[in-house]
Amino acid sequence: MQDFDFPHWADAQCQQVEQALAAWVGIGAPAGLGDAMRYAVLDGGKRLRPLLALAAAQAVGGNAAAALRAACAVELIHAYSLVHDDMPCMDNDVLRRGKPTVHIAFGQAQALLAGDALQAQAFELLTPDVADAPGVPAAMQADLCRILARAAGAQGMAGGQAIDLASVGQPLTEAQLRRMHRLKTGALLEASVLLGAACGQADAQALAALHAYAQALGLAFQVVDDVLDVVADAATLGKTPGKDAANDKPTYVALLGLDGAQALAQDLLAQACAALQASGLADTRALLALARQVVGRSH
Ligand code: IPE
Ligand code: IPE
Ligand code: MG
Ligand code: MG
Ligand code: MG
Repeated sequence: MQDFDFPHWADAQCQQVEQALAAWVGIGAPAGLGDAMRYAVLDGGKRLRPLLALAAAQAVGGNAAAALRAACAVELIHAYSLVHDDMPCMDNDVLRRGKPTVHIAFGQAQALLAGDALQAQAFELLTPDVADAPGVPAAMQADLCRILARAAGAQGMAGGQAIDLASVGQPLTEAQLRRMHRLKTGALLEASVLLGAACGQADAQALAALHAYAQALGLAFQVVDDVLDVVADAATLGKTPGKDAANDKPTYVALLGLDGAQALAQDLLAQACAALQASGLADTRALLALARQVVGRSH
């Protein structure tokens, strides 16, 4: 097998995703709303969730048109979650992706609506007219919608955000913190992988392995987010550091200390790698590189 050039692969996928998002997001919306939606989504973000969806789809030989739609859809849910997360009633943050947050730039009402509209548009992308996406069968569209809806809703991201807000100032046990992180952040990352897998025909062994990979990666991601909130600066991070302590949020750093949190992230990376090895899939190099990136990242 040839050497895998991950930066080259990731650049090519990101280009495809950026083009699709630019062509789709907020088109046809009233001017102010469309501008806020595009501001929230375009020109920023690591695009980790789209990359996971595309890598998983490629690992199972999935339908490329469906995978691109799934990749963009999960990024829209993620972007909406960030718009709302930053609002004064939640984390009250002014900086995101190196720019003023959406409510600072467009006002709170427009930020609320941009989040609402991005959420709906994610599901529109997953259910195209036959003429727009002849290769995406209706049964696959339904699977993709179900996976994303579960991950975004009360038993996923929104539920995790509710636990996060209810946990301010509370010392959580490791099990409680893990549940919160798995829901608020892990669910969408896990869904990214499952969406990609649903674009193809993975067998039960591969699906179970991808699930285990995604769970480990999803938790590792938020553990590292907690660490970066403490150790990184605003210029690198593109968002305000020190917010978790300022808002009295329970985090893995608060629970385990910096070294303990970093060690946990490494442990989760090892779990993710082991899951890929047990998948029986022929080529998981992009998924492996993405897991390493999640744990080794500086922003
Ligand atoms: C930040 O996610 C919010 C969390 C879920 C912790 P990312 O770090 O993936 O943010 P972007 O998309 O790169 O801006
Ligand atoms: C955000 O978690 C999770 C979601 C947006 C669902 P955080 O509040 O830790 O994310 P950042 O640090 O603001 O990006
Ligand atoms: Mg938050
Ligand atoms: Mg926040
Ligand atoms: Mg954070």
